[in-house]
Amino acid sequence: MSRDFSRIRSSEEYHEAMRASIQDPARFWEAQAERFTWMAKWEKVLSHDFERPEVKWFLGGKLNITENCLDRHLGERGNKLALIWEPNDPKERYLRLTYRELYEQVCRYANVLKRNGIRKGDRVAIYMPMIPELMVAVLACARIGAIHSVVFCGFSAQSLADRINDAEAVAVLCSDGMFRGAKEMPVKTVVDDALGQCSTVKRVIVTERVQWSVNMVAGRDVWLHDELEHVDADCPAERMDAEDPLFILYTSGSTGKPKGVVHTCGGYMVYTDYSFRNVFQVEESDVFFCTADVGWITGHSYMVYGPTLAGATQVMFEGVPTYPDAGRFWQIVDKHAVNIFYTAPTAIRSLMAHGIDHVLPYSLHSLKVLGTVGEPINEEAWHWYKSHIGKNRCPIVDTWWQTETGGILISSLAGVTDEKPSHAAYPLPGVQPVLLTPDGKEITENEVEGMLCMKFPWPSILRTTWGDHERCRQTYFSNYKGYYFTGDGAKRDAQGRYRIIGRVDDVINVSGHRFGTAEIESAINAAKGVVESAVVGFPHDIKGQGIYAYVVTEEPVVDAEAMRGNIIEAVSAGIGRIAKPDRIQFVSGLPKTRSGKIMRRILRKVAENELDKLGDTSTLLDPTVVEEIKAGRI
Ligand code: WT7
Repeated sequence: MSRDFSRIRSSEEYHEAMRASIQDPARFWEAQAERFTWMAKWEKVLSHDFERPEVKWFLGGKLNITENCLDRHLGERGNKLALIWEPNDPKERYLRLTYRELYEQVCRYANVLKRNGIRKGDRVAIYMPMIPELMVAVLACARIGAIHSVVFCGFSAQSLADRINDAEAVAVLCSDGMFRGAKEMPVKTVVDDALGQCSTVKRVIVTERVQWSVNMVAGRDVWLHDELEHVDADCPAERMDAEDPLFILYTSGSTGKPKGVVHTCGGYMVYTDYSFRNVFQVEESDVFFCTADVGWITGHSYMVYGPTLAGATQVMFEGVPTYPDAGRFWQIVDKHAVNIFYTAPTAIRSLMAHGIDHVLPYSLHSLKVLGTVGEPINEEAWHWYKSHIGKNRCPIVDTWWQTETGGILISSLAGVTDEKPSHAAYPLPGVQPVLLTPDGKEITENEVEGMLCMKFPWPSILRTTWGDHERCRQTYFSNYKGYYFTGDGAKRDAQGRYRIIGRVDDVINVSGHRFGTAEIESAINAAKGVVESAVVGFPHDIKGQGIYAYVVTEEPVVDAEAMRGNIIEAVSAGIGRIAKPDRIQFVSGLPKTRSGKIMRRILRKVAENELDKLGDTSTLLDPTVVEEIKAGRI
């Protein structure tokens, strides 16, 4: 009998698990899958073909992920806390939900969905702030087999409409408004704006949070609290195939509109639970706090699903790290005795900049493990986190993964495998990363750099991009035949640790959020008076990367501030405020080759202030434009 490696506790076990997972992947993952409740067992563990691409896990298996997140725990953990919800305002009462209470709320919400005509396979858009009803709404969709598409509340009405239309969603779940630091912001009116462009939506279910009067469209909009009057807490979990879609999550790429990454029920369940327990080395009594928003993949995998699958207790926070002051995270850690804390490097850098005085009032003695996600962490931030937050006694896990990977693929296991600043370090057992040369050859030695690819599927790899399988093939499986291409470049050190360098495509990572340069350019080009634009990333102290835009206007710019305001407005309306350029330089033309291609390399070097490293500019149609761009650098 082989070991099941459900919990890897030592470096020896890590290596043993790694070997076992490569030797017989099917057997390795089957052992993980056996931990769950299945309505029918799978007939085959895996079938895959990266060229089509077609990947299937646990074929023929039937399950409902919420039965595993909720019902499965009711016996032993019914009275255990599933959720501690901390509101935006520290003076407002926090809320605690046991597994039984969460189960009942999910069942009731699921019955509300059914009452409103929502069925298995329907797509449901969720546009909500970080309130408990968000977590409940997501699980309620999964309970009835509706495919959720969560849209981060910072996205504009236009972005929301694009996502609703792409998925042909039949319903939107939202709130009246939201609290964010000192601000109160609308949510329902953004939905109303979006729905002006969406014909598929038949129902909007509104949760009350800020008690604003909102416009309710008769026959379309209903209040959640009214609907809950009519339902009970009995809602059998829908029988789903392991390969039925669980959710769609939109993410930016280097071309066109954001694409809907599709994850399925069985493999995603197995991998999020496995990676959550092993990376963070979660113990039964631990309190876990992930600061991400459910609108991003981190909130899906390590708030809604991973922790509940593992039966863990977690903190969900409605607000922002700097309200009422920059000690808010640490105050929450002490208040709820958080043991495992998971955040983004950008948050660490920003709190570091606010100074140590915001940390000193708190003991932080409950902390055992710290994590980061979303972008490379620089050494300075890593050491600050290690010493001032972890008091040099907590391991840090630097977790590398993507929306498309569904779960953490490269990371140390807390306290089990070693750590090194700025290195995501080792693949999880079951994950097979490789570095490729630009022409697709595997580099097998260490102390090298290459394109980061995966040569074997893991259970939570994306299955397709919604409504456009060819785009999925082209983006991830065509650059290097037989591999999944991540879009990242990486180094491997002498010990085999990976260090992620960053994107090799036209994607910018701003505060851990992905934007395509093309997407931002098209939003800028919609501003009045703009002819064309080119966007590149540049190093930014807090955000990791900032957005630098070169803009060509119809008329020479007289009032630069007003024109910049127009452009920022256009980006806010097209995408959301989170994508607004940090710097805007007006230029009379862009550096283009004779075939009309923009030479971004030059624009990147200027934005990075590496003016002596522009390289060869002789192939440009008009080399003089380069001098103007250099001189006008902001
Ligand atoms: C991209 C994925 C995974 C959830 C949040 C972002 C970058 C992610 C790390 C890390 C260096 C990282 C990569 C990746 N990234 N984690 N630990 N070290 N870079 O998800 O929006 O899908 O973005 O974020 O460039 O490709 P995402």
